[in-house]
Amino acid sequence: MSTALWHPQAHMPTTLKERLVIASAQGVWLTTEDGQRLLDLPAGLWYANIGHGRERVAQAAARQLTTLETYHLFGIHANRPALDLAERLRALVPVRDASIIFTSGGSDSIDAACKLARRYWQQLARPTKTIVLSRDGGYHGLHGFGTSIAGLDFNRAGYGTDSLIPETARIPLMDLAGTRAEIERIGPDNIAALVAEPVVGTGGVHPPSDGYLAGLQALCREFGILLIADEVVTGFGRTGEWFAGHRWGIEPDLMTMAKGLTSGYLPLGAVAVSDRVAEPFMAGDDAPIFRHGITYAGHATACAVAMENLDIIEDENLVERVGTLEPVLAAAFGALTASPLVQEVRSVGLMAGVQLLPDVAADDVIRGCRQRGVLTRLLAANTLHVCPPFVITPDEIRFAADVMADALAERYAA
Ligand SMILES: Cc1ncc(COP(=O)(O)O)c(C=O)c1O
Repeated sequence: MSTALWHPQAHMPTTLKERLVIASAQGVWLTTEDGQRLLDLPAGLWYANIGHGRERVAQAAARQLTTLETYHLFGIHANRPALDLAERLRALVPVRDASIIFTSGGSDSIDAACKLARRYWQQLARPTKTIVLSRDGGYHGLHGFGTSIAGLDFNRAGYGTDSLIPETARIPLMDLAGTRAEIERIGPDNIAALVAEPVVGTGGVHPPSDGYLAGLQALCREFGILLIADEVVTGFGRTGEWFAGHRWGIEPDLMTMAKGLTSGYLPLGAVAVSDRVAEPFMAGDDAPIFRHGITYAGHATACAVAMENLDIIEDENLVERVGTLEPVLAAAFGALTASPLVQEVRSVGLMAGVQLLPDVAADDVIRGCRQRGVLTRLLAANTLHVCPPFVITPDEIRFAADVMADALAERYAA
């Protein structure tokens, strides 16, 4: 039997039996087509940072749509919202004198960043520097490069070769000595870039250990490897700073963004490129063209929506709010370690992973949460996804954790 809508990342036979249609949403609350109210614990897919249903964003989109829906950025063309947003991002990101390349989302940003890293070394007459390193457990979307550098093997498998793009290699997670050994084995002259999420997200929410990210940056600098920080999840306040680079004191060569850039109101991604990497393409009549770009890069309405989203984050001090809520979330969900079904709870900022023991049927726990009014989902390693919109209240955080405790207790009793 076939179906009209083929869902992404879905076991379709299950989806056809259990499809959950979200009809409307306000703040942290979703309403399903059959009328159930659910607290959106994963903020969609880590994106709904300002919460759902913001009238201001709708009005910003309508204003832009009725002025100029968009005009592309190829060649000499531009639109004002893209120019304004690029300026604003340049001032916000932990990337030196950044130039901004707009994309349609996270996977797209990863593709652009990895291509540019390789193109940069070719331009510098270092043709052997092609390999892109990524970490075990990493998730960087599912375009060509994202699939190829996936640290979750199931996302890389099944295409006939170990990696769609052959020049990739994995390094161990949170292991600087192991990373050094792998770089020396492959040879830094063969390596273009290293891609890392500051906090591993889909891999199960793993915050970095003390000094680890600075150590990774130091290794990249020592061996002449470009560091690409994938801030698709951590960007725009999720860890209590505008970017994880600020929290952990790193300044990557390239940085990918998406999700929180618009809080999901329209699809948009971006890559911040440091002046060092951009420079060969910026000056001189013989400067090469970076032959990359998509029709909707810098879509004017998406950029206007991003500007309004950033205004809301600033007007409502939402980044500071994440810092205030961090200990509330850590305490509420940390208490779940008391459950005999829970292996570990990891949290940082307004994100947490509740890792269940390997033999616990997580789907039953997720269903139990849903019956009690909380939506969550499964990350890698049998881990439940916690990453609410920044507008969640302390009481709502405790409610969601209590619901999860009840669902776990019910499963334990079964
Ligand atoms: C760290 C990271 N990078 C990239 C992506 C891909 O983003 P998108 O799904 O918008 O293509 C994701 C998506 O979850 C992500 O978590």
